[in-house]
Amino acid sequence: MKFKAVLLLLLASSLTVNAQKDKKKSQIKPRKEFISELMAKMTIDEKIGQLVQFTADGTITGPVSGDNYIEQIKKGNVGSILNATTVKYTAELQKMNLENSRLKIPLLFGYDVIHGYRTIFPITLGESASWDLKAVELSAKIAAAEAAAGGVHWTFAPMVDIARDPRWGRVSEGAGEDTYLGSKLAFARVRGFQGTDLSLNNTILACTKHFAAYGAAEAGRDYNTVDMSERVLRETYLPPFKATVDAGVRTFMTSFNEISGVPATGNKFLVNGILKDEWKFDGFVVTDYTGMNEMIPHGFAKDEKHAGELALNAGVDMDMVGGIYMKQLKKSLSEGKVTEAQINDACRRILEAKYDLGLFEDPYRYNDAKREKEVIYKKEYLDAALDVANKSLVLLKNSNNVLPLKKEQKVAFVGPLVSDEFNIIGSWAASGDRNGFAVSVEEGVNKIITDKSKISFAKGVEIVDAKRDMIQNAINNAKNADVIVAVMGEFENMSGEAASRTNIDLPGIQKEFLAELKKLGKPIILVLLNGRPLTLEWEDKNMDAILEAWWPGTRGGDAIAQTLYGINNPSGKLPMTFPRNVGQIPIYYNHKNTGRPYLGTADNEQKYKSRYIDVDNSPLYEFGYGLSYTKFSYSNFKVSSNQINFSQKLKATVEIANTGNYDGEEVVQLYIHDKVGSVTRPVKELKGFQKIFLKKGEKKTVEFEISAEDLKFYGIDMQFAAEPGDFEVFVGGTSATTMKLEFELVK
Ligand code: BGC
Repeated sequence: MKFKAVLLLLLASSLTVNAQKDKKKSQIKPRKEFISELMAKMTIDEKIGQLVQFTADGTITGPVSGDNYIEQIKKGNVGSILNATTVKYTAELQKMNLENSRLKIPLLFGYDVIHGYRTIFPITLGESASWDLKAVELSAKIAAAEAAAGGVHWTFAPMVDIARDPRWGRVSEGAGEDTYLGSKLAFARVRGFQGTDLSLNNTILACTKHFAAYGAAEAGRDYNTVDMSERVLRETYLPPFKATVDAGVRTFMTSFNEISGVPATGNKFLVNGILKDEWKFDGFVVTDYTGMNEMIPHGFAKDEKHAGELALNAGVDMDMVGGIYMKQLKKSLSEGKVTEAQINDACRRILEAKYDLGLFEDPYRYNDAKREKEVIYKKEYLDAALDVANKSLVLLKNSNNVLPLKKEQKVAFVGPLVSDEFNIIGSWAASGDRNGFAVSVEEGVNKIITDKSKISFAKGVEIVDAKRDMIQNAINNAKNADVIVAVMGEFENMSGEAASRTNIDLPGIQKEFLAELKKLGKPIILVLLNGRPLTLEWEDKNMDAILEAWWPGTRGGDAIAQTLYGINNPSGKLPMTFPRNVGQIPIYYNHKNTGRPYLGTADNEQKYKSRYIDVDNSPLYEFGYGLSYTKFSYSNFKVSSNQINFSQKLKATVEIANTGNYDGEEVVQLYIHDKVGSVTRPVKELKGFQKIFLKKGEKKTVEFEISAEDLKFYGIDMQFAAEPGDFEVFVGGTSATTMKLEFELVK
């Protein structure tokens, strides 16, 4: 493990070194002067043109504007193109732009590089389960290096939407339910994509999305309405966005949803108010795909012209695919509905991004065919993808230490995803190759087990289809085995955008097939490939082990095989709660206590408590949970004092010992509970974590610091401040930890 960390560091530094060699000395005027001179030459049409983005022929996720984008590029009416990739294609479009448009302002190429460009890393939710900020930053850095080498200037990531509803398919694209963890990961991802110097040719613009509260869509239905208090918005949903501003993110995307009656794309309070004025964000803001046009069906804009005015007045700088700014903005200007100063401001922000990328110096600086060839699918990138995949797997159950498998055991691998190399890289997998390139579980196992008589592979059932003609063959294999490994889950497109589900069980007849296998009386290990928390009560009762593998990416099959056979010891922890059933949703660890908290079976007066009569309040697997092949024991939990004032720091220390039989990593988590507030506080809030490596038999002391800064919240007067009073502090390897001490914050 230590070796791996060193490898990651070496790789991270070599990426920088390579890029610096390519850095050119600036030969053009300083930014402010350069852009002012350029803008002085621009007509109003050309300025508006910079605010326009069209999609090329790549991934289409909504209606495409009828305008011929090639003709518009030639006229200089387009600032950015979405979904154009590869050195060749982007160079063709750039050339057409430079040879035909009057001022030859370079086009900006944007693409959804969410969890890798060609080398695909685990989906964001999976990667977040690693709780490993360095690994996550490196994955974004590699994604950027590959994308940049493929002609891409700008990714629409990170997606930082807090999500507490696993019915929502887009939970797969985010960091899960927690604001603190989500903020740390969001910061790391921006740093990974953008680095510290955008003028290097292996960094790209990041785009924080979807601003804001998109993850709180009612009933988990995509694009649905959001209604929430400003307190919840600021305290729970906005901090990861703010973290990306702190990390220097250069672009933001507005979300599709309305928030308390106002669509995000026309939301002055959010965009001009919070983002640009309060947070001093100086980059540019793009709509989501036709988000501006959608203010009409929302019932907020009466027509396209009105929608454009609402968007520009709210602070939205670029129109993604909608064609509204291009067609309507000049008219709105002539009617005095928007000002030239607003158009200038939007135009300047976009030109600044182009300048900082070095595109004015060399519009083709991302168009080096030789570099594209060298960089894409580099061995060390593929190795890093394996390493991150290994870190992202979460062991949910392991009765009688059925895992890890031994090479001598006869294992029947079954299930619809056992040989899959298509779905395994997940949704939003950019230009990642699927069939023939991504590593399936079968391939991964075959690399480890040389004695082929010990392993067999058979699907048994499909993911959704209820076909039963393959079951018998798989059962026959299983009969001859010592252990069964069932690789099951969803299709990759059952999560992601426009993929909400009301039933989050294993789809199709997979569970029925597991029940058949169970009759054989052999241990069964369930490996899950999926993009969201699933409801697994039956599986938890009936399976001997469960390994949550998410969509683990290009090297996913290797990671799963290495984990099953103990070459990797799983260390992932859930970034999102797994409910017992959909009726419990929304369910998350940092809920409020209520006036009638249910105390479980020890409570005699159970009837009139905040509870269900048909299912326990607890989730099946809570946030922060995840097992290891080894055991970690926590002891000697201490705080440096039972009182701190507003300028002091409290030290919390705890000893963690690896008392099991394997070396392993543990995510040590620290939570607080503010017992009384001017507004009520959650029962627990994550305030720190450290991922540590312990050799078998080793013991380490972990130290956290807590100050008044960590205890702040939006009080009754909406001031963000800590309030004096009593606090509980918890440590452990899960959010359900009961190891706690108390301290007081005094004036
Ligand atoms: C999605 C965005 C994405 C955009 C561009 C939209 O449908 O909501 O997340 O960045 O398309 O592809």
